[in-house]
Amino acid sequence: MSVSKKLFVKTYGCQMNVYDSERMIETMGQVGYVETIIPEDADMILLNTCHIREKAAEKIYSELGRLKGLKSIRPNLKVAVAGCVAQAEGEEIMRRQPMVDMVVGPQSYHRLAELENAASEGKKIIDIDFPDEDKFDFLGARSKAKRAPSAFLTVQEGCDKFCAFCVVPYTRGAESSRPLKRILIEAEDLVERGVRDITLLGQNVNAYHGKGSLGQDISLAALIWELDKLAGLERIRYTTSHPNDMDDDLIEAHGNCSKLMPYLHLPVQSGSDSILKRMNRSHTVQSYIDLIVKIRKARPDILISGDFIVGFPEESDKDFDATLDLIRRVGYGQAYSFKYSTRPGTPASERDQIDESIKTKRLHKLQDLIAEQQKSLQDAMVGRNLPVLLEKPTRFDGQLVGKSQYLHAVHVDAPTSMIGSIQHVHITHSNRNSLTGNLCQVY
Ligand code: 5AD
Ligand code: SF4
Repeated sequence: MSVSKKLFVKTYGCQMNVYDSERMIETMGQVGYVETIIPEDADMILLNTCHIREKAAEKIYSELGRLKGLKSIRPNLKVAVAGCVAQAEGEEIMRRQPMVDMVVGPQSYHRLAELENAASEGKKIIDIDFPDEDKFDFLGARSKAKRAPSAFLTVQEGCDKFCAFCVVPYTRGAESSRPLKRILIEAEDLVERGVRDITLLGQNVNAYHGKGSLGQDISLAALIWELDKLAGLERIRYTTSHPNDMDDDLIEAHGNCSKLMPYLHLPVQSGSDSILKRMNRSHTVQSYIDLIVKIRKARPDILISGDFIVGFPEESDKDFDATLDLIRRVGYGQAYSFKYSTRPGTPASERDQIDESIKTKRLHKLQDLIAEQQKSLQDAMVGRNLPVLLEKPTRFDGQLVGKSQYLHAVHVDAPTSMIGSIQHVHITHSNRNSLTGNLCQVY
């Protein structure tokens, strides 16, 4: 009887990495690996890394330092570094931590099994190419195991926008979109396995322009309408978007496509035109506000989420106040905010930097404002009946947690047989980061 080997994966960073990790686990499954959540049990440890902000690489080196001890008592253990730190650091990883066996970039992980085989023969492997072949063509069919009701599906990768602070165009390369046919096959497969809510992923997902069934380029809106036809799929979301790629057909879909959820993550980064210009964002505060107005016209209840960077080089108090002003004008239901951190190789890293203590103060102020807005939009759900996709049990007996159409976590007493179904829940309480309610009776 063949004994399966164990794979431990630690995922850092964005949802695209979560998706890539799933695909790597499936790929290694085809050569006999099963996932473990205990690193000490593993035959192979894979760190799927993120390079978006500073200290990311240092975090990986300290994790590798810890793993060195494990490797010294288990010399057959294989250690692989994948993802964006692998892409950015390459050979440097093995120079600094020679016990690493494999360094694999985000565009070549379809070769992981082959690389693991070579590593088993004692070779040290670095594969950070941007190969001509599309990794998705080589990953094989997805596993058939039943899965949770919500899933990610990568449809687009890379970015051509070159915002002055961002490493993505360098680590993930140029924009590319997967063909419609491949996405539909994968979506059908996910639905068969119990998925009801799919989030389409891309670093710049609304720039999607994959090949349609007749070989023509199709937009993200057209892709969403194709997925809308898929019986059993109830909810569609997408992330992350750039304001300049919010085309009219996509905005219209928010008004007309009932499966497209009323939630939009639309990063603006700053509310000051001069900072936006220095960030090379190629949109203005007014064009962003106009866009929000248009989107809300199509779908009045849409919940807007965003990303903000504070302390970008040369950001003055006035620039920062303009960001707070924009936040007040838009009203965010959710947001991610970060202190600017220098990324080697990006244009902004060469500029005069803002004092760390100023960044910290600004971040707190911005986060307080967002928290206020987020809480008041969440509180406004109390008394409403929301359709909730029930996802899993909580630690309380008889309770499940699910997601509203606006991505709020909702707790409700319900039987586990309801997992995977959408139920109407009467919202009774707004907690710190979630809602609680009762199942509505259906007569
Ligand atoms: N410093 C701080 N935040 C950054 N982001 C990207 N690069 C940086 C950086 N150098 C943030 C942006 C982006 C999100 C994914 O991460 O807000 O939208
Ligand atoms: Fe980075 Fe997004 Fe700008 Fe592309 S659009 S460079 S991924 S912040």
